Amino acid sequence: MKNLVLKIVAVYTLFFNVCLADEGMFLPHILGAKVYNDMVKNGLKLTKEQLYSINKSSIKDAIVLFGGGCTAEIVSKEGLLFTNHHCGYNNIAAVSSVNHNYLRDGFWAKNKQEEIACAGLSVSFLESAEDVTSAVQLKLNGIPATEIAAKLPAILSEMSATASKTSGKEVRISSFYKGNQFIQFTYVIYKDIRLVGTPPESIGKFGGDTDNWEWPRHTGDFSIFRVYMSRDGKPAEYGPNNIPYSPKHFLPVSIKGVKDGDFSMIYGYPGSTNRYETSYGLKLKVDIDNPNLVELRDARLKHMYAEMIKDPAVKLKLAGSYAGIANYWKFFDGESKQIIKNNVIERKQKDEAAFEAWAKGKKEYDNLFTNIKSTYDNWRPYAKHRVYLNEGIYGSPILAMAASLSGLQTAIVKNNPEEVAKVLTRIKTQYKNYSEGQDIPSDKNIVATVLQMFYKNVDASQRPEDFYTKLKTIGSLESAETYQKFASSLFSNSILADKNKFETFISKPDSTTLKNDPAFQTAMAFATNFNTNYAKFFTAFNNSLFAFNNLYLKGVLEMNAKNESLYPDANQTMRISYGQVKSYKPKDGIICKEICTTKGILEKYKEGDYEFDAPKKLIELIKAKDYGQYADKQSKELVVTFISNNDITGGNSGSPVLNAKGELIGLAFDGNYEALSHKIAVDKDLNRTICLDIRYMLFVVDKLGGATNLINELQLVK
Ligand code: ARG
Repeated sequence: MKNLVLKIVAVYTLFFNVCLADEGMFLPHILGAKVYNDMVKNGLKLTKEQLYSINKSSIKDAIVLFGGGCTAEIVSKEGLLFTNHHCGYNNIAAVSSVNHNYLRDGFWAKNKQEEIACAGLSVSFLESAEDVTSAVQLKLNGIPATEIAAKLPAILSEMSATASKTSGKEVRISSFYKGNQFIQFTYVIYKDIRLVGTPPESIGKFGGDTDNWEWPRHTGDFSIFRVYMSRDGKPAEYGPNNIPYSPKHFLPVSIKGVKDGDFSMIYGYPGSTNRYETSYGLKLKVDIDNPNLVELRDARLKHMYAEMIKDPAVKLKLAGSYAGIANYWKFFDGESKQIIKNNVIERKQKDEAAFEAWAKGKKEYDNLFTNIKSTYDNWRPYAKHRVYLNEGIYGSPILAMAASLSGLQTAIVKNNPEEVAKVLTRIKTQYKNYSEGQDIPSDKNIVATVLQMFYKNVDASQRPEDFYTKLKTIGSLESAETYQKFASSLFSNSILADKNKFETFISKPDSTTLKNDPAFQTAMAFATNFNTNYAKFFTAFNNSLFAFNNLYLKGVLEMNAKNESLYPDANQTMRISYGQVKSYKPKDGIICKEICTTKGILEKYKEGDYEFDAPKKLIELIKAKDYGQYADKQSKELVVTFISNNDITGGNSGSPVLNAKGELIGLAFDGNYEALSHKIAVDKDLNRTICLDIRYMLFVVDKLGGATNLINELQLVK
């Protein structure tokens, strides 16, 4: 018995005491001495103050949260901004038209007058960060553990709003370690952002979804923007008189190149990880959540693709949402496979055993995992239904739009004109977005398919019975034709499908029109069924899961009180990760080199292909080896991408990859397939970040785009 405990403790140390430089997304404002010293040991040549400072300018001042979910970096004294092509994708599509198709053909502003304003795009600069755990805990005092999940969001947003009012800046309070720590971040937000340059999609998305999440890789995944400010140096809405932003710090760009083993560091805004997930949560993910999401996305993508390839106007309309759905369709499929292949559930079980050994005799942790297990067991029968609602029913744009009208219905019925007016403001924006992206042929097929899949795959006892009984009057519920007929009539009769009819309706909304609308009726049949019968199980699940995970993490923190390498899950706050440029072995007998060159573009190139076409001029430049100063000094080749073992995730897209001196050597843009379990657990031998080599990017800007004006703006280190 004693032996066993010793063994378990050894496992615990191994697992929770993560290996530095292979794993960890650290908060730069509280970078521990041990972590910093390890960075130095690995090659870093900068002081802690140069990495992050609130008094002096530091690298952090060049890093921004770009739009809602990417990272970008300032690279000139005039606010020039680099990010990924897939981060700028929606904005590029939005300023494109069939006649000025920047998504297809690329765009290069030769001077500032040619730069294009991007409505709705903003970037956030981090100003400061402050621990507010005690203040939050004070507000949580007396609230039972199982009620915290429900009450916490309102508490945090109220505290943030008060702090924002006081400072006149954007304040957000983020939760760490599952509600065991709270940090308040102050941001300054700039809203006049303009498109400066983008390669054609055949470079920026070369390889498409086939190559997405894969190495080797040859995607030129970059786009260029500029931040503008008011004449008196303040953030401002778009205005023709605004001037380029003048930054506290901008990144110099090194074209000296990379080699295996070089130090690399990545700053950015990783969106979410779940590294402290339990084995019970993973089972739900692998058995139910992931496979059902993948199946439903697969069906929706097929219908969208069928229309997109027919017509460039439809392609422009659907491109952004298609890319988003496809990205995580492939991710979640790969994630399940890698969780199984990399034995992640078994690794979590070992963590849990180690925790139990540590917690023995500590009363508050008694039965923790038994409680977690029964929390999941209680929710499991309804989990599939919820995925079908979110990824199936609401996966149809018209049904999602229709579902969002339920608040309007309530307000009308309540006869509350103030509330009606308030809801209408939200709905107008929502409908504008919906109608701009509306493609009836694909959505008609989506509606038919998801209704049939729901019927076939969700537990029969959980179906909205009345809806399917009515549907039976059209034809057999086993036949696809029934669903197609229903979808056609839904689109012919719904006011949502017709912009004029919808606008007439919202100019004087009434509940009868809504009640009789087939899209609204359909969305409501499913929403009401879930809300009345199953939402309570979901709420109970979330509440107790929060309480038990919170307790688990409290223990993990206690157990690791002296372990500086412990780091919190990603939550879209600024992080730093460091490591090396590094090759890897994806499987026995195969070594993946640390770089890809333009040779691979020629190997993959397929003229006219949807994913592997490339501009003729690029192919000519590569064949002529006309690489100028961007060629690798040693090999004379042009390096397109490289990999490093930095620990990043979605949200880090566009992040700067920096060398030991803090100079820009690349842009992080993806992760590799073999480590798609990375949100849950890092496998240091397999986990790699895929980076665009800055030299390929500049070669495209310079030689293909002819935008030497942009090259001249940079501080190049040669
Ligand atoms: N996998 C990349 C990320 O999540 C996005 C790549 C976009 N490209 C694509 N083919 N969908 O950051």
